[in-house]
Amino acid sequence: MLIRNPADLVPSEITPRGVFDNRREFLKAAAGTTLGLALQPMSDAFAAEKLAAATKSPFSTEEKPTAYKDVTGYNNFYEFGTDKSDPAEHAHTLRTRPWTISVEGLVKQAKTFAIDDLIKLVPLEERIYRMRCVEGWSMVIPWLGLPLATLLKQVEPLGAAKYVEFISAADPKTMPGVSSRVLDWPYIEGLRLDEAQHPLSILAVGLYGEVLPNQNGAPLRLVVPWKYGFKSGKSIVKIRLVEREPQTSWVKANAREYGFYSNVNPEVDHPRWSQATERRIGEFIKRKTLPFNGYADQVGKLYAGMDLKKYY
Ligand code: MTE
Repeated sequence: MLIRNPADLVPSEITPRGVFDNRREFLKAAAGTTLGLALQPMSDAFAAEKLAAATKSPFSTEEKPTAYKDVTGYNNFYEFGTDKSDPAEHAHTLRTRPWTISVEGLVKQAKTFAIDDLIKLVPLEERIYRMRCVEGWSMVIPWLGLPLATLLKQVEPLGAAKYVEFISAADPKTMPGVSSRVLDWPYIEGLRLDEAQHPLSILAVGLYGEVLPNQNGAPLRLVVPWKYGFKSGKSIVKIRLVEREPQTSWVKANAREYGFYSNVNPEVDHPRWSQATERRIGEFIKRKTLPFNGYADQVGKLYAGMDLKKYY
């Protein structure tokens, strides 16, 4: 993000929907078997079963998912380097078990969840979402996850809580990028509480029917499809409910280029490039970027009366 606008990408193949569905059926059948477990090495048998049993969500787009190799091979995860290929190459050092997520701050009952307990807590859903990066490219990703609102309900937010802060892991022993000063670590993102509670906001634990690959933010990452991709913090260890707008890593790095809201808005250019169009990974011709990434009907009312050129 600091580096260039890489909308000029080598196009690659899109996984046909049929192939995706066949893959899901295969994984479902394999989930209880040794083969299933071999495919899902980071998960216990129960978690594998839960992923395979995920229900399809009506919030999913009908658009074709981006090829698996691009979803898992073209990533931003600066804890593992700043090149798009770095996370896939280096994130194998991340240890995702044991892993706990603490939910604390302005809540009635702070709680710490072991990741596998969290996976067991609620039925998982498959959400096929459009994702738009601030750099000018987009993908369609079949996530598996749980509504963030479900987790927040568990801790009972207090009336004074207005924002939610998401804190990623920052372990220099397993995350080589953390010793560089490219960002202020740990990676921090934030949402207003009502954004966090919106039914489109999810915590993803898998994609394409599988346990979340490390490079995509295992074992748990935020997904907020109407905002630029950087709002979706990866490998989260702490969620804090707070009164004031959190100081996020990208606002600290460059507030003029990356605002707190970061709603996908084709009318607000990035200072160094236009945001009017995007390149869907796997396609040649650019498409028009839609307000709120095409989710305006669902989320537009969250911003009623706000000047979205000021609150970019
Ligand atoms: N979370 C952490 N912890 N570190 C990061 O560098 N990059 C962000 C976001 N979450 C990032 C992160 C950016 S810039 C984007 S575009 C998305 O993750 C990319 O998610 P993906 O690689 O799964 O597509």
